[in-house]
Amino acid sequence: MMSKITEVNPIIWENDRVLLIDQTRLPGEYKIVEINSSEEMARAIKTMIVRGAPAIGVSAAYGMYLGAKEISITDRNSFLKQLEEVAVRLRQTRPTAVNLFWAIERMLKVANQTNGSVEEIQTALLETAKNIHAEDLQTCKNIGDRGVEVLPTTPEKLNILTHCNAGALATAGYGTALGVIRSAWRDGRLAKVYADETRPRLQGAKLTTWECVQENIPVTLISDNMAAHCMKQGLIHAVVVGADRIAANGDTANKIGTYSLAIVAKAHNVPFFVAAPLSTIDFKIFDGSQIPIEERDAKEIYQVGETRICPEGVEFYNPAFDVTPAELIAGIMTEYGTVAPGELEQFRVKQSV
Ligand code: MRU
Repeated sequence: MMSKITEVNPIIWENDRVLLIDQTRLPGEYKIVEINSSEEMARAIKTMIVRGAPAIGVSAAYGMYLGAKEISITDRNSFLKQLEEVAVRLRQTRPTAVNLFWAIERMLKVANQTNGSVEEIQTALLETAKNIHAEDLQTCKNIGDRGVEVLPTTPEKLNILTHCNAGALATAGYGTALGVIRSAWRDGRLAKVYADETRPRLQGAKLTTWECVQENIPVTLISDNMAAHCMKQGLIHAVVVGADRIAANGDTANKIGTYSLAIVAKAHNVPFFVAAPLSTIDFKIFDGSQIPIEERDAKEIYQVGETRICPEGVEFYNPAFDVTPAELIAGIMTEYGTVAPGELEQFRVKQSV
């Protein structure tokens, strides 16, 4: 049996390469994958060895640095041109998580603004990737600690439902939604987590429950279609989920199934929170209708393991994310505190790109 991991570090920078926990193999196998090039990083993001919006952003930043190291040109302008090609490759991996684009833009900005030789630009890029990595960990801890402050006060300890995995695995560590849950557990406010299994890729069943088990946080796994029933029975006090992209008006894209969960929460008067860093807010777009939604291979829905679960001749639709309208969200928990979805504007100047 696999021994428990005391601290989950999904991304490690060590000896000029990135080490990633292969999230496609959990919970059965704990395997570390070495990433030595920008191309390997792009593949790891696309195939979801690393996944979750903030973790994708951190990985892309290292991918940009690895790509910069691969360019053997000393002329600054030609170097910057080739670096743009590295950015193009990384941008093509997953369309919805805006942290990917945010991190790449931040890296390109540093490259363009660093005076001096190509070597100096490369050094600045590595520093920036390490900063993005370290900042995300601290940001998650702040989201967790601030988020706990607005959870409902109930006579009994809280049961919190979450969807997908917005935990340490999905970030540089600690997690966003699961970070709030971690902080609530640390503060003695949590009774248990309800984890939605999260069809079709089962991040809730495979990853969220795994993280809870590593830290002895009580967790009950339910399938996605059980949430309404659990709420009706009074089993859920709050829902906290992560986000892949939040539009300026607060509409939030997150893992498919989040939207229906928000509707169900509204119907049962259960507060529905989104926990996310400012890097997940896309101020360039006004509302959720402009958020690109990734569509993935139909195999994810017509197969369970290697077994086909429906006859030939059926058509498929496999959107990986949906958009929850702002009006269904009680609050957006950020590293600067929790605000109503309509109050995000105040954070525009704080975004560090
Ligand atoms: O397809 P995934 O597994 O990358 O989707 C992950 C989610 O939807 C998370 O909830 C989101 O990225 C926030 S992670 C802190």
